[in-house]
Amino acid sequence: MNAPTTPLPIVVLLSGSGTTLQALLDEIRAGTLNVEIKAVISDQPDAPGLGRAEDAGVETCALLPGDYPEHQAFDRALASCIDKFKPKYIVLAGYMRILSESFVERYAGKILNIHPSLLPRFRGLNTYARVLDAGDPEHGSSVHFVTAKLDGGPLIMQARVAVLPQDTEESLSARVKEQERKMYPAVLNMLAAGRLEMKDGQTWLDQQALEQPMEHPL
Ligand code: GAR
Repeated sequence: MNAPTTPLPIVVLLSGSGTTLQALLDEIRAGTLNVEIKAVISDQPDAPGLGRAEDAGVETCALLPGDYPEHQAFDRALASCIDKFKPKYIVLAGYMRILSESFVERYAGKILNIHPSLLPRFRGLNTYARVLDAGDPEHGSSVHFVTAKLDGGPLIMQARVAVLPQDTEESLSARVKEQERKMYPAVLNMLAAGRLEMKDGQTWLDQQALEQPMEHPL
């Protein structure tokens, strides 16, 4: 039997309810996710996700954008806060603030995001309303490496969900989030095992460039 590898140290950034974070915390507690969340950081001091982290005994930190003269200054403070915890990766879990180019460059290849659409369809906000308006037969979620292009970094894995005739934003988002709760841990376990990296603007899995994102479930 292989010796278990050391848990991958990460910092999670979030802005909202933190159900994505909760899925990671639950899997860590169950022993099925080989990462250690060193800290959870938010740009929203009252984000319920911070409470979930505290309940799990994870350190938290909130930075108020209004306390900084401009975007770059906020992101510099964010970077100093992150660096104190020495993470190997930064995991965005519903972090709704755009990261500055200099921040993304500083952590090139070390930031992951989960976005509720089948990228490159529907970058940005309100993806559920937009997919319903467009009448697409399917929707879903994508995990990708973060680059300076908003929701435009190399894709790692996608989960697909059929759009049903009676769907509302709420019913569709519930089904997508159910997939996200399993897909993000699956990707993070691959990262922890050293199987994934971003190189030359592409996702590499097991030393091979990925032509297409992996499909969840695998
Ligand atoms: C998740 O569904 C995630 O895909 C989305 O925010 C939600 C966070 O939910 N991320 C984005 O929209 C990023 N552009 P949560 O606060 O309950 O974890």
